[in-house]
Amino acid sequence: TFVVTDNCIACKYTDCVSVCPVDCFYEGENMLVIHPDECIDCGVCEPECPADAIRADTEPDMEKWIDFNRKYSELWPVIVEAKEPLPSAEDLDGTPGKLDTHFS
Ligand code: SF4
Ligand code: F3S
Repeated sequence: TFVVTDNCIACKYTDCVSVCPVDCFYEGENMLVIHPDECIDCGVCEPECPADAIRADTEPDMEKWIDFNRKYSELWPVIVEAKEPLPSAEDLDGTPGKLDTHFS
């Protein structure tokens, strides 16, 4: 499966939503997550994210994000259409450690 990671926070570009064939993105206030049981591992979303926030769960150090995506995909509503990025997207793109400082 693929997972959404830190740099989506406060950006939420949503380009990923437009390309997912199975609509497995879920929307929080300031980031998205992928439902790991619904993702078919097609990989098309990964290069579409302008913030480079999507990773294969096989990459190193992804355990935290796998748990995170699973947890919040059960709590948040599905998102099936792209929308405008958050106003903070450009300014905060690339800011390290956004989970601690900007997640809401
Ligand atoms: Fe959707 Fe494919 Fe991305 Fe999984 S890898 S979230 S199925 S676009
Ligand atoms: Fe987030 Fe990138 Fe999608 S910023 S909303 S994972 S396009």
